[in-house]
Amino acid sequence: MSVPVIAIDGPSASGKGTVAALVARQLGFHYLDSGAIYRVTAYAALRRGVDLADEAGLAALARSLDLRFDGVEVYLDGQPVGDAIRTEEAGRAASKIAALPALRAALLELQRGFRQVPGLVTDGRDMGSVVFPDATVKVFLTATAEERAQRRYKQLIEKGFDANLAALVEDLRERDARDASRASAPLRQEADAHLLETTNLTIAQAVDQVLGWYREVRPN
Ligand code: C5P
Repeated sequence: MSVPVIAIDGPSASGKGTVAALVARQLGFHYLDSGAIYRVTAYAALRRGVDLADEAGLAALARSLDLRFDGVEVYLDGQPVGDAIRTEEAGRAASKIAALPALRAALLELQRGFRQVPGLVTDGRDMGSVVFPDATVKVFLTATAEERAQRRYKQLIEKGFDANLAALVEDLRERDARDASRASAPLRQEADAHLLETTNLTIAQAVDQVLGWYREVRPN
């Protein structure tokens, strides 16, 4: 039997990362935050002076990245990047480069390499559609833009960043529109993905739902 993958896709700040990490912990699986890969690639490009529109340059950079993940911490060239990739600015830069097909192709193998025993839980935009099309369970996790802005606001304040709720709603809408309208791996619910609308769910309820869907496919 192939190594199981639970693919959780959805828009920005939907809480999919929190849910994915908790599902991974419950099952003892590995966890991949694919958004962090796009964020750290954009961060590396900004640091090395690679233009965010230079598709070939970004793809070459992506292939040469020395990346390591340890839980939620990301190491670039052996150094922890910390919260530098968690700002809205880093998210916007990630979303810009994520629209470039050559860059996405350059990151495919890196992402697939995380599929290791006993299993993987991963979150992003195209985990179920492109990176792991044969995923054991696919989930499209979402919430209203207002609820997602609230969640992102809380997260940013907890990290000690400045945040403005109205600006966040605007920013999320803009990012969703770019992620959903791009030609390469757009954000959308796949026909074989379960819809998980979390606006009125607690984190624990969302986690239980995903675990329930997984157990329907792999009972033990
Ligand atoms: O999920 P997160 O907000 O960290 O992702 C940052 C950006 O990276 C997203 O707005 C999206 O454009 C891009 N991304 C992507 N495909 C993924 C994960 C993230 O295009 N699988």
